[in-house]
Amino acid sequence: MTQIQLPGLVDAHVHLREPGYTHKEDFTTGTAAALAGGVTTVLDMPNTVPSTATPETLAEKVTLAAAKAVCDVGIFVGATSSALDAYLPVAHRACGLKIYVNDTFGNLRIDELSSLHRLFRTWAERASEVGGFRSERSPSPASSRLGPIAVHAEDLMVPVCLYLSDLYDIPLHIVHVSRRSEIELIRAARERGSRVTCEASPHHLFLSTADLPRLGARGDMRPRLATPDDVAALWENLDVIDIFATDHAPHTLAEKASETPPPGVPGVETMLPLLLTAVHAGWLELADIVERCVDAPRRIYALPEQPETIVDVDVDAESILRDEDMHTKAGWTPFAGMPVFGLVERVTLRGRVVYEDGFILAQPGSGQVLFQHS
Ligand code: DOR
Ligand code: ZN
Repeated sequence: MTQIQLPGLVDAHVHLREPGYTHKEDFTTGTAAALAGGVTTVLDMPNTVPSTATPETLAEKVTLAAAKAVCDVGIFVGATSSALDAYLPVAHRACGLKIYVNDTFGNLRIDELSSLHRLFRTWAERASEVGGFRSERSPSPASSRLGPIAVHAEDLMVPVCLYLSDLYDIPLHIVHVSRRSEIELIRAARERGSRVTCEASPHHLFLSTADLPRLGARGDMRPRLATPDDVAALWENLDVIDIFATDHAPHTLAEKASETPPPGVPGVETMLPLLLTAVHAGWLELADIVERCVDAPRRIYALPEQPETIVDVDVDAESILRDEDMHTKAGWTPFAGMPVFGLVERVTLRGRVVYEDGFILAQPGSGQVLFQHS
């Protein structure tokens, strides 16, 4: 039994589904799942109903999160093709702008050049009006600066977004990188000075196309699972992967079993045990987890410190991941059946024990919504 203490983790990419899809997840269940996984800050994506794409929809989401969350929540804004720039007046209250450049769940897709160009240009203009980007200086959460633009990694959209980021000098964060071609291009861009960072998700690090026959729709997400060679490329290029983030995308098992299963898998509460298992196997150091799940997301999104926030973990405890142990409303995990090392025993957030031995002790509304005071 080896007990260690980690800082509260950040999951910089989750879909908490509220408003609009609360039969899949809501702010309380999604943030409870986060705590169970040692995660004390989540950044929520805008593909809800309504999309978080206007001042009103952002305000509605803030109200819901403030009343219901049990960990801290940052909120992304997104663009819709009918209201391309509607979020601009409240851009500084978001952790960043998410652009869906590929097929995804929901209807936020923006994939033609004129709209993409306009989004990058107006984000740069707005940044210069408010004094730049948050990540330019040491994190100052009260500042009204803008966060990065976050885009989906998928194939040819990677060079398109890299080019636009270079053109307008905008920090670009590429989410769920899954292919050798993508990570190698990001490495090359970074070596030439591009302001690009990226993240990889546990399902792309620990699963591949070889698992698909076994998983069926439970292994379907966007981007899809990649080949074993792509997975090897992510591990080979670990130094280029700034952040591990889950893309926690809960759908019910009934939906996954339907004729048209929606893409996406839950993940916020299984990331830490999977990463600790990689430490056990010698693929990672504990410091790699802290850098990618705490320090880098805090730097890239300029997230505030969480004082007196500690995750107590038994790194030697062995268990098998099981659907029935999950706190997400979806009630399943694509990693079911996988043996892992590392058990989150207790989570303390701002001096209060909020999770212990499988139980959530925090009250809905005890989580804070980030960037709302600027
Ligand atoms: O598989 C996915 N599901 N990929 C995404 O990008 C969105 C997500 C969702 O919201 O279900
Ligand atoms: Zn996502």
